[in-house]
This record gives sequence, C-alpha cells and structure tokens, in this order.
Amino acid sequence: MVLITGIAGYIGSHTAYALSQAGFEFVGMDNFANSRKENIDTLRELTGKDFKFYEVDMLDDAGMEKIFAENQIDSVIHFAGLKAVGESVEKPVLYYHNNITGTLILLEKMKKYGCKKIVFSSSATVYGNPAVVPVNEDMPTSTTNPYGSTKLMIENILKDVCVADKDFCAVLLRYFNPIGAHKCKKIGENPNGIPNNLMPRLCQAALGITESLTVFGTDYPTHDGTGVRDYIHVCDLADGHTAALKKAMDSTGALTYNLGTGNGYSVFDLIHTFSRVNGVEIPYKICPRRPGDVPAVYACPDKAFNELGWKAQYDLEDMCRDSWEFIKEATKNN
Ligand code: WQD
Repeated sequence: MVLITGIAGYIGSHTAYALSQAGFEFVGMDNFANSRKENIDTLRELTGKDFKFYEVDMLDDAGMEKIFAENQIDSVIHFAGLKAVGESVEKPVLYYHNNITGTLILLEKMKKYGCKKIVFSSSATVYGNPAVVPVNEDMPTSTTNPYGSTKLMIENILKDVCVADKDFCAVLLRYFNPIGAHKCKKIGENPNGIPNNLMPRLCQAALGITESLTVFGTDYPTHDGTGVRDYIHVCDLADGHTAALKKAMDSTGALTYNLGTGNGYSVFDLIHTFSRVNGVEIPYKICPRRPGDVPAVYACPDKAFNELGWKAQYDLEDMCRDSWEFIKEATKNN
C-alpha cells in the first residue's frame, strides 16, 4: 500500500490518479493547508476507488501513527509541505518546522513500521542560480531561500537514512516548473489565496480576475530578456512518480532525478503561446525583477530517461491549453 502525503494538492492529486491507472493501491493524507477538500471526492470519482483518506497534519504524531498502525504501508510518496518561496523568506521558522520536522515524524513512523521506500518531492530550486544550463543531477546545489533550503535539507536527511539502513531507498525527484491539468478538467492548479506562480497568475489575468499579469523583469540575459524556465505538464510529472515508485521498490540507496522536459521557455514565450492556442489576450505590465529570481534554469532529463524509462510527452501548447480548460471550468461558477 502506498501512502501519498499531500494527496489533495496539485501534483499529489494528479499522481494519485496516475498511480490508480497503473494499478497501485494507496491511502492519502492532507491537512488542506494549500489544497481543497473537494479534491478527495473528485479523486474517488475519477479513480473509481473509495481509497482511505486521513485529514492529518504531518506534525501530528498521533495522527501519523494512526495511518501506519491501520494500514500496511510499504512505500511513501511525500508531497506534503509548504512551498511558497516568498512566504518562506518572511516566515523561515514556519517553513523549517513544518517541512523538516514533519518529514522527520514521517521517517520515524516509516522506521517503526518497517517501511523502507520513499519518493520525495524535491525541486529544481536546489540548483540555485546554475552557472550553466541545462542542469544535470551532478551539478552543484545551493539555495537562495528557506523553501529551497528545506528541500535540500530533506534530500540530505534521506541520503543519511540510506547510509544508516542499507535496505532503504529514497528517490529524490527534482521538479522543474509544473503547469497544466488533467484533461478531465476536475483537478488542476487552483491554489487557495493569491497564487505565486506564473501560470495561475497568467490565467487570472486572462479571466479578468486581475487587471494584468506582472512580468518580473525584461533585462535578464535571455533570448527576450524575461526569465527562462523548464515548464513541464503536471501529467508528465505524475507519470514520473509512477516510474520512480517502481524503481524504488526494487532498488536501495538514494537516487536523484530531474523531472523536466529539457526545454527552456521565457515568460514572453508562455504568454504568446497561451494567447495563441487559447485565443485570449493576456494584459500584462512590465515591472522590475522579483527578488530571488534567477535568469534561466532548465533540465537535462537524460538520467530519468536512461534509468526510469521516463520522458515528458506533452509540449508547451498542451500545457497552455490544459491549464486554460481547467481554470475556466474551476471558476465558471464563481
Ligand atoms: C516562473 C517565471 C518569474 C510570476 C518557483 C519555485 C519552485 C517551484 C515553482 C514550488 C520567473 C516569472 C512569475 C509572475 C512573472 N515551487 N513570473 N510574473 O520562481 O521558477 O519556481 O515556483 O513548487 O521550486 O522556486 O516559478 O512560476 O514563480 O516563476 O514574470 O506573476 O515567471 O520571474 O521567471 P519559479 P514562478
């Protein structure tokens, strides 16, 4: 049985669907800090499985104990955590306590109940401002904000656990920039409150929820002056987790993989592609750079292809089309 922490979230919910399609049985937990309760019923409807769900905060030791005591958990996919870069700068202790202590409590339960397989939701943010792109998994890591530091610390904790227990396997997945939504239009990126990331903010401008999209900087050393990122369809990302879980079940040690397309696209590339494929205008205004942003980061995805047999299938047009179809559906009753 797989435990999916943060199952109600954007990537967690898409991964749960992918796991279901691949024949895995799972239980889920979430505290709905950055997700919606209705995603659980939506997932049960989409998968046709009345899987067990626990509304638990990973800092709740008794709650986490109950999950492991009541289910034969043989692997974990660990999404639960706070993820807003800007908020992490303002509230570092909240981020370190929630993300690190929560993971340590999870690892204590895994040890107590003999669960030795984990797939961890890490992030390309651990590469900081890479000297060269595309980045591969052997490149230096450095973090520029507490959110990124929690991801790197958890990677190192999991590497140490693999040294202490030779039967343990941790697959560390470094996501680039997930966007898009499943074509069912029932799960997607629709965060509580004001979003931080480009695509949800672009969609809000397209819907007229906000007056315009803010373009943070046009003076970067990139092909058009705006920031370049490796946008990856969330369904590709979800399939990467299924491949990683299969790898973890017959491996030991710490294994690190980039989950990206290998293509870098700028903010203007995204705006123009989104506008063209969806036939909508995106009002935007140009503002100064956002503190902490880096000019360009995108993946070399070869290791995941060679060792997991995984490669992104969707292109930028698919991502823009699926994001738009989801957000129109999600906001039509608002
Ligand atoms: C992308 C590009 C911005 C908003 C962060 C985290 C990463 C992951 C994803 C959690 C940049 C520009 C953005 C806007 C803009 N976090 N931008 N106007 O910063 O690459 O990655 O979020 O899962 O770990 O580091 O993503 O979408 O915020 O920004 O111009 O309103 O869009 O400057 O170039 P980022 P992002």
